[in-house]
Amino acid sequence: GYDLWLRYQPLPEAQRVAVAPYAHSVVAEERGSDGTIAIAAGEIERGLAGLVGPSDEAAPGSGHVVLIGTAAAPSIAALDLPLTTLGEDGFVIRSVARGGKHMIVVAANRPVGVLYGAFALLRRLQTGADVTAFDLRETPRVALRLLNHWDNLDRTVERGYAGQSIWDWWKLPDYADPRYTDYARANASIGINGAVLNNVNARPDSLTGPWIAKAAKVADVLRPYGIKVYLSARWSAPVELNETATADPLDPAVATWWKAKANEIYRAIPDFGGFLVKANSEGQPGPQDYKRSHADGANMLAAAVAPHGGIVMWRAFVYSQVDPEDRAKQAYSEFKPLDGAFADNVVLQVKNGPIDFQPREPFHPLFGAMPKTPLMIEFQITKEYLGFATHLAYLAPMWEEALGADTYAKGKGSTVAKVVDGSLERHRLTGMAGVANIGSDRNWSGSTFDQANWYAFGRLAWDHALSSEAIAREWAAQTFAPDPAVVDPVVAMMLESRQAVVDYMTPLGLAHLMATGHHYGPGPWVSDLARPEWNPVYYHRADREGIGFDRTASGSNAVAQYAPPVARRFADRSRVGDDYLLWFHHVGWDERMASGRSLWAELVHRYDRGVASVADMQARWAALEPRIDDARFEQVTRFLAIQRQEATWWRDASIAYFADVSKRPLPEGVRPPA
Ligand code: GCU
Repeated sequence: GYDLWLRYQPLPEAQRVAVAPYAHSVVAEERGSDGTIAIAAGEIERGLAGLVGPSDEAAPGSGHVVLIGTAAAPSIAALDLPLTTLGEDGFVIRSVARGGKHMIVVAANRPVGVLYGAFALLRRLQTGADVTAFDLRETPRVALRLLNHWDNLDRTVERGYAGQSIWDWWKLPDYADPRYTDYARANASIGINGAVLNNVNARPDSLTGPWIAKAAKVADVLRPYGIKVYLSARWSAPVELNETATADPLDPAVATWWKAKANEIYRAIPDFGGFLVKANSEGQPGPQDYKRSHADGANMLAAAVAPHGGIVMWRAFVYSQVDPEDRAKQAYSEFKPLDGAFADNVVLQVKNGPIDFQPREPFHPLFGAMPKTPLMIEFQITKEYLGFATHLAYLAPMWEEALGADTYAKGKGSTVAKVVDGSLERHRLTGMAGVANIGSDRNWSGSTFDQANWYAFGRLAWDHALSSEAIAREWAAQTFAPDPAVVDPVVAMMLESRQAVVDYMTPLGLAHLMATGHHYGPGPWVSDLARPEWNPVYYHRADREGIGFDRTASGSNAVAQYAPPVARRFADRSRVGDDYLLWFHHVGWDERMASGRSLWAELVHRYDRGVASVADMQARWAALEPRIDDARFEQVTRFLAIQRQEATWWRDASIAYFADVSKRPLPEGVRPPA
């Protein structure tokens, strides 16, 4: 599992023969002068050697060449390729036959574009591309394609299910684990260009000299792969480090401290990306502690990094001053009035949904609501609420759903994707962040199928128009084998997996029913936690008559935070659809659903369907035994067994609880857990 999707196993024979002649001659004129080009050339050599395997077809001199470089390389310049429109990270791949030579050309404006092109070439070869017919041009849709590590300085990882943090802080900066290079390579292969190294629940220490030196060492390793380092900043750091008396953003001493801190960081890390900030949320301090706004805080930090070209990513995940009616309304209430108040180098980082990375949520109402402010989207790659590392849940369909949602901000077609990629309001500062699922486990992500979520995040950040199915196909071909007998069933499993989790955990628009704290397993009955919005009963609101959170005008009216056409649809019981029904409506147990079943029967049906999907995944996987290596086959088999058992636990516990609340009969076969 360590090799991830970069296994480079021998191609099927017909294709292997076609690729083989190119394997001996990679020409990269900038190899000696540019580290990134050297990495790209080495990757192609390594990749082709694997794909072709040992062979003596076409020794050097056959006239087959892979030529890579920027326009600074004479052979690339001579080809007169259309590089000007490729921007900083784009690339072209062309098959060129000239003067008896057969060339595959990978060219870009910057070395990192060449590196992205090198990986794209290898990916294409593994997904059946014809070597003589390359005519490809790609540019990423968003500028910032970042992983957010929720890694603590003691190497624990908040919501991490793949072992300790890969950052071995204790040995840094004197020793850089070679794994950082493998990490950088894997990320570059999918276009990721930044990493926030530490947890959003940050400690002040990470901004002290010794830790800056450690981060600088990591930055040195990641740099040739086009990856910048960012840090989460704790708002109160200057006070906690006893260097200022206050953290009031309008106090000049505070601004001076952050300026000096930024200068110190940039001396160590000249291309430092900037700060990520979680402020006034879940116990994290922030500018509101001094009666200042999020904009006051963000802009003060932004001024400190601006002279160096840095940015501030200010998170919109806030619910400190809880909206008395509805937690889902909090972020919009706090941030919408600040539209236009943020400095140019500030971007708001908004989770895909208004609550918290649930298996299914409607899109966050801030998307489309702040036209003057660049908004990044934040996804959670690590599966905090979706069964940790053992449950198979391919998340790209969920992200595709969020990105494809129509905000109607500027009429039909104003999708979340267009807000995020800046095209709707012509923003330049654009990005996607994914909360990493990477740890020091040998397989990086805790399970083989969780590697697909890391992969899919990078691919979607590069191009959100890719379908979740296309991404699954690429990943399966590279991770297992390009054989349709493997790819088809693996992709089928992946594509049904997320809905399965929705069904057995939180069907029909329910949310936040997980057990307290760790969020693993069912806890819909929990009602005694200190804050109302921590309790699952707050979200499902089940009683004798019905279930669901009324967010229409008769309830919290959260629907009004969406553009009118969206608000009308969500508010309309007949148009909202089953997937979001109980998110927006409190519905009577006997009301009829689109299926013709009563709500109670539909709920039971969905829970059951979720368990049945897991059984289906087990059957598909079992049939793959002859085609998958023993170690991965065995682990996935066992994890699916855990998932089956726990899907059943979720179903039975949830139904038993809701049957008790509603006084409905327990369906046959459902056993209330002991
Ligand atoms: C969730 C998660 C926390 C995390 C928070 C955040 O609430 O459970 O561990 O800190 O999200 O995104 O800040």
